[in-house]
Amino acid sequence: MTDHHYIEVHNLVKNYDTGKVKVCAVDHVSFYVEQGEFIGIMGASGSGKTTILNILSTIDTMSEGQILYDGIDISGMNEEELSDFRQKNLGFVFQDYNLLDTLTVEENIMLSMILNHEKRTEIERRIKEIADTLRIDDILDKFPYEVSGGQKQRAACARALVNKPKLILADEPTGALDSKSSAMLLRTLQVMNKELGATILMVTHDVFSACYCERILFLRDGKISAELYRKDMDKRDYLNRILDMQSEMGSEDIYAE
Ligand SMILES: Nc1ncnc2c1ncn2[C@@H]1O[C@H](COP(=O)(O)OP(=O)(O)OP(=O)(O)O)[C@@H](O)[C@H]1O
Ligand SMILES: [Mg+2]
Repeated sequence: MTDHHYIEVHNLVKNYDTGKVKVCAVDHVSFYVEQGEFIGIMGASGSGKTTILNILSTIDTMSEGQILYDGIDISGMNEEELSDFRQKNLGFVFQDYNLLDTLTVEENIMLSMILNHEKRTEIERRIKEIADTLRIDDILDKFPYEVSGGQKQRAACARALVNKPKLILADEPTGALDSKSSAMLLRTLQVMNKELGATILMVTHDVFSACYCERILFLRDGKISAELYRKDMDKRDYLNRILDMQSEMGSEDIYAE
């Protein structure tokens, strides 16, 4: 046993100052994540979900607070150490996909492996594997603007997962997917979690996606307003509890969108 948690977030604050108005997007949020957990983050639009993920991924900075990975304070890392950390540990699925439009889907997926100096044969093997799993093998040669939103989303997931990262941060990874593609992607995440021991933090609006999480943090106005553990609940009970939590918070209209 170690005396620290895999991820520790202490009193995280993010203020945006756009001149006229000040927005407190994240308001003294603290939580711990254990290695191998699959955690969901839910909350209304604007509640601070993306902001938290972006700060955890080190692509955005915090206003106040402290984040420790494996007991190490990331604010003490310089730019080179941070990029090394991201490259080695992190798979990030962005809410807006963030694919590079001048590269094909395949090139987008292989980029991080090229940066990691992986062998060509290994790169090809892993791309084939993830493309088969997420059923995007037929669009690998296309450019992002030539494919559908759901295909872009699966391509963005393939890019995040191809390195088999230890930590996966996923922002609405099923937002643009139909139920069949969602299930496929969620099962892929589940395999990464169960068989490869990846730790996953997934932002989602979708209760069915949230059911895959062992624990869900509910955000409201930049604060954690509730926490729900699945424990030994069956899927139906869990789903109902999640729906209850959402209506208790009164912040989410599940029939909207
Ligand atoms: N770059 C920015 N500048 C100013 N305000 C911002 C910026 N990014 C986010 N915000 C504000 O911070 C708050 C939290 O935004 P965030 O993107 O984290 O919400 P979210 O929970 O991810 O919402 P959604 O479900 O719509 O994606 C919002 O009020 C938003 O308007
Ligand atoms: Mg968001």
